[in-house]
Amino acid sequence: MQTIFNTIKTIALKIDHAIKTEDLGYSSTENASGEEQLKLDVKSDYIVEQAFMDVSLVKALVSEEKEEVLPINEHGVYTVCYDPLDGSSLADVNLSVGSIFGIYEGEPKGENLVASAYVVYGPRIELVTASKKGKPLHYRAQGEEFNLIGEVSLGQKGKLNAPGGTQQNWSAAHKKFIDSLFAEGYRLRYSGGMVPDLHQILLKGGGLFSYPGTSDKPEGKLRQLFEVMPFAFIYEQAGGQAIDNNGTRLLELVPKHLHDTSPCFFGSNYEIEALKKTYGAKA
Ligand code: AHG
Ligand code: MN
Ligand code: MN
Repeated sequence: MQTIFNTIKTIALKIDHAIKTEDLGYSSTENASGEEQLKLDVKSDYIVEQAFMDVSLVKALVSEEKEEVLPINEHGVYTVCYDPLDGSSLADVNLSVGSIFGIYEGEPKGENLVASAYVVYGPRIELVTASKKGKPLHYRAQGEEFNLIGEVSLGQKGKLNAPGGTQQNWSAAHKKFIDSLFAEGYRLRYSGGMVPDLHQILLKGGGLFSYPGTSDKPEGKLRQLFEVMPFAFIYEQAGGQAIDNNGTRLLELVPKHLHDTSPCFFGSNYEIEALKKTYGAKA
């Protein structure tokens, strides 16, 4: 697994360089979810693909930016599902963006996720990795080196509330729940990039990030294999919880298609338990 994490460090340095030096405009193509691709999305995807090409442990790659599975090595063990540049539409306003990696042993589904990692491209490059043993680890790059800052651990209750999705399209139950957190004193923190938003909640000890099903997107926006499950793994390893709108652990989901999405809620225990009560069995 360390080989894969080391490859992610190399990728992080290259994508960071691309963000800082390359054209921020749109390409003429769409991704598998029908979203217009930025040139940076395409370039970042290429960087990840090239970096994993020679890693013999990797059987296949599945990218947010590609329709199909890319086979790498038939004797490989892991399928790496990744979002090469998350929040890419924030790059032209100079906000933080990220990369997300889920490492699956066998068929890509929640229960086969054995490790995950994400990179934040902000004022500094930071990396969080998690495997089945122990708390997630937080690194910060200094030059080409990634220095370990420490373990990531969520408290029982936080102070931050990051509610995603268009409010006009929220259900009444969801609106009531989000309002109840603000009424308790929670503060709004939402940049529009799930990597920096979830990173902030993790490092500040807790809170809630939500991206519910909405009337226009009943299955939510965030993609299970590349976005939802890798973060669910990290939140659980950090001592928090990650569930869907039915209260099911996100890591129990089995996507029917590679690009399936799911409503998702990540947080410390207090907020997720409160969510389960307000939502009841479902919202
Ligand atoms: P991507 O840039 O990979 O398409 O993903 C962006 C995602 C995620 O980072 C963020 O939380 C969410 O989209 C924001 O969506 P809204 O603008 O609908 O809140
Ligand atoms: Mn994304
Ligand atoms: Mn993306």
